[in-house]
Amino acid sequence: MSDQTRLLFVCLGNICRSPMAEGIFLHLANEKGLSDRFIVDSAGTGAWHVGKRPDSRALATANRFGIELPSVARQVSPSDFEAFDLILAMDRSNRADLEDLGVTNVRLMRSFDATLTGEYDVPDPYYGDGDGFVKVYEMLTRACDGLIEHLTRD
Ligand code: 4NP
Repeated sequence: MSDQTRLLFVCLGNICRSPMAEGIFLHLANEKGLSDRFIVDSAGTGAWHVGKRPDSRALATANRFGIELPSVARQVSPSDFEAFDLILAMDRSNRADLEDLGVTNVRLMRSFDATLTGEYDVPDPYYGDGDGFVKVYEMLTRACDGLIEHLTRD
């Protein structure tokens, strides 16, 4: 059995939030010397942007903080639900869509932010201004830190 943890980050379009979550997670895991411990991917519940690289604002924001986004958009598929140990939904709507598809190993991304209690969404920055992407970057950094801490705790 593999000792790697397989994580799938999921949002609606797979061009803004989940590619940023994937890139930030990889960056932080790499910084901590833990990148070998994880297999990481992202996907969208919707199919509109399949085959596309992340939104230019997501790429620009990530670039500003020294983070690469390797994602090419794809839609979640039922085979993902067994292929990944944990599925991280960006908001409650994504989580509900995944649960409708029969996913049980799904958690809200921000539930791993140790500074929060309750159920918080990563807001969709797609229709807002560029500032929304910086806020998403900050939220995801805190949540990814907490997720790494959770997954590496003895
Ligand atoms: P994401 O943002 O779910 O964070 O990738 C969106 C991107 C595109 C659309 C919706 C959300 N869209 O409707 O095209």
